[in-house]
Amino acid sequence: MPARIIGTGSCLPEHTVSNRELEKWVDTTDEWIRDRTGIAQRHLAVEETTVSMAVRAGKNALENAGADADEIDLIIVGTVSADMYFPSTAAQVQSGLGADNAVAFDINAACAGFLFGLAIADAYMKAGMAETALVIGAETLSRLMDWQDRGTCVLFGDGAGAALVRRQEEGILSLVQGTDGKSGMALTCHNRPVNNPLAQNEAAVDFTRMDGRAVYKFAVKTVPCAIEKALEQAKIPAEEIKYFLLHQANIRIIESVAKKMGRPMEKFPTNLQKCGNISAASVPILLDHVNREGSLSRGDKIVLAGFGAGLTWGAAVLTW
Ligand code: COA
Repeated sequence: MPARIIGTGSCLPEHTVSNRELEKWVDTTDEWIRDRTGIAQRHLAVEETTVSMAVRAGKNALENAGADADEIDLIIVGTVSADMYFPSTAAQVQSGLGADNAVAFDINAACAGFLFGLAIADAYMKAGMAETALVIGAETLSRLMDWQDRGTCVLFGDGAGAALVRRQEEGILSLVQGTDGKSGMALTCHNRPVNNPLAQNEAAVDFTRMDGRAVYKFAVKTVPCAIEKALEQAKIPAEEIKYFLLHQANIRIIESVAKKMGRPMEKFPTNLQKCGNISAASVPILLDHVNREGSLSRGDKIVLAGFGAGLTWGAAVLTW
């Protein structure tokens, strides 16, 4: 039996930072950021943490589904910006929600994290290992940015999105995932250096580094192929898809995917203008926004797709 999304939730930090405000911090302009990316503002955490936003998004998803925390038996959090190395974000979310019956763990598949989490939840359900899963993407990416590097810091934001998934007759129709580790150094953030009595290391803490053009080329080539493959596996023609909800990295990437697939931009809702790129949280936050606008009806076919560091990608076709 497949898994079906029965509720969504999200949480964005209270503080927003416009492109104009960024002009005061780095050598950039509102015009450059809008032209090259479509982004106008992003939310940045001040009081919020990856855990607090993930818990809030999870609560909102439970409320949206009309479900209780004790029904959850699996919590998966996709994140690259956990507050702590351990315990995991998912374990802290379990505690924050009082979801005492859930097994909980984090995964790192960067901007495809939500799609990978959904695939794991689906596999657990097909194996009879879970009935109700909370899949979350949660990020405080602002902690991983070099705020002097205009090539990266203008792109990203903070936030969390969640989906409550239940084992049901219909739901996820297909899932496609991939990884290209050979090209992974195009988008990096190093951990602390080895530092022990045998290997003293004074290296400074590292931040996000990106070969933007390489990542751009990867995205416009890989994402349409992954979506086509997922549609083929689901035996659903692209014309039947109500919405394609893509990772919100750059409006030009989304326009290129729409063009390659021969589908109009109205089929590709976006929120990157207000949120920027929130890695694993982008897709579930967008899904929640579309859901709460009332734009989805039971039975609609939708596509979700994520891509990013790894390099990784994932696409899913599902019945709402
Ligand atoms: N403000 C002003 N100028 C900037 C800038 C900024 N924030 N960032 C870069 N520039 C400059 C560069 O220094 C360069 O100047 P130069 O020509 O004098 O050397 C110029 O703009 C062009 O830089 P380039 O990196 O070639 O721009 P681009 O058109 O490729 O756009 C990205 C840059 C990052 C917007 C684009 O490559 C992109 O979106 N890549 C994908 C990134 C992504 O999605 N990452 C996350 C994946 S999950």
